[in-house]
Amino acid sequence: MTELKVLLSRDEIAKRVNELAAEITRDFAGEAVIFVGVLKGAAIFLADLSRAVKLDATFDFIGVSSYGNRPSPPQELKAGWDSTGEVKLTKDVDQSMQGKNIVLVEDILDTGLTLTYLKKLLEAHQPRRLKIAALLDKPSRRKMPIQGDYVGFQIPDEFVVGYGLDYAERYRNLADICIIPRE
Ligand code: PRP
Repeated sequence: MTELKVLLSRDEIAKRVNELAAEITRDFAGEAVIFVGVLKGAAIFLADLSRAVKLDATFDFIGVSSYGNRPSPPQELKAGWDSTGEVKLTKDVDQSMQGKNIVLVEDILDTGLTLTYLKKLLEAHQPRRLKIAALLDKPSRRKMPIQGDYVGFQIPDEFVVGYGLDYAERYRNLADICIIPRE
């Protein structure tokens, strides 16, 4: 059994998510928002964030995958992986985004390739406002100059799982965010 080390406890996460929700509530006061979650990792963050926000809100989901050969799990754990930078849309949003307030919800901002692609894609829909909420941010991994508007935690370049984040699809249901040691 892999040994996991807690990086962020469920209580720390809940506290920070509530703070982000308060910021969003304040920034969009009196307006409606659409939370657009990036599958699959953002599902849990979206569920908690949106329930703490006091606004008229709806949900949508978008799916992406990256080209490139993702290494098999043991190699992915050791070295991470870098895609070619091309992102493929696997599921588009279901509703019109034109003139709407959108909060794009991500579990983690890593190289920034995914969010750079999605931001451009959603901006083409001409939303009223588009903001990015990312629970985790690994600034040391960034390849594209993109930042979140609502960022939960900046973290070091460790392999993290839990609260939506996976390792070979496992651990998404952990309540804490944990590090899988690389050695
Ligand atoms: C992860 C994460 C982001 C993306 C961030 O998704 O959920 O979508 O990578 O990486 P980037 O900043 O380097 O582009 P993943 O492909 O692991 O899919 P998942 O959400 O289904 O786990």
